[in-house]
Amino acid sequence: MPIENLNYRERGGGTTLALLHAFPLSSEMWEPQLAGLADVCRMVAVDMRGFGRTPLGGEAYSLDDLAGDLVDLMDRLGVERFVLGGLSMGGYVALACQRRFDDRLQGLLLADTRAGVDAPAARERRYQTIAQVEAHGTGELSRTMPGSLLGKTTQAQQPELVARVSAWIERTDPAAVIAAQRAMAERPDATAQLATIQVPTLVIVGEEDALSPPAEAAAMVRDLPNAQLALIPRAGHLSNLEYPEGFNRAVRDFMSRFPA
Ligand code: MLT
Repeated sequence: MPIENLNYRERGGGTTLALLHAFPLSSEMWEPQLAGLADVCRMVAVDMRGFGRTPLGGEAYSLDDLAGDLVDLMDRLGVERFVLGGLSMGGYVALACQRRFDDRLQGLLLADTRAGVDAPAARERRYQTIAQVEAHGTGELSRTMPGSLLGKTTQAQQPELVARVSAWIERTDPAAVIAAQRAMAERPDATAQLATIQVPTLVIVGEEDALSPPAEAAAMVRDLPNAQLALIPRAGHLSNLEYPEGFNRAVRDFMSRFPA
């Protein structure tokens, strides 16, 4: 069942670009896009279950459930077709959405994400994170995660952004972190799916992204029938926050393919 009260931020007009955030953040991470691209399209940035102002709901969920939540919101907003963008975990959900609701999509934006499943060690780390957050909350995660989410340039030159990301993680509901880690650990492999995606696709990656590195983004572009790659300089995994001007330029250019 789709969740009621899916919170979202909305800005701009014209073709709809739905935006799905990274783990363990919220729609707040899209503020530089909501501010910088309002003249280009209508952005709808959602808080996925348990994040931001959206309630977690009672049960464990899958990434397919999150895709269902988004399409249910689009139905309620009267939006038949839309461009869908997701960063990292948001990209996994965007791929789930394409798998289930392909006919609703005009285009896809996959940022700092991957189609494949976790390597066994990475999957194991998710269960370690779950155990740690169950026992101690999000404090430790808020201290360690910015070091892997943010690129080395950001860590050296934007201490205020490092602190902001850390504060976001610290205030995230531990139960939301646990539910999302479980859903990501169980996600299906979408690598073979890439060849079936006919809509125009923009793959964006920060050149300093250590979690889903540029080589993986380039491999996705090779597998996608209709894709282009945008490499964002001086940015790590959270490329939209680390170098918003570069990210927004790529999205602005891509969205010009979908006039209202
Ligand atoms: C994210 O930024 O959403 C995470 O790195 C996704 C993941 O844990 O695989």
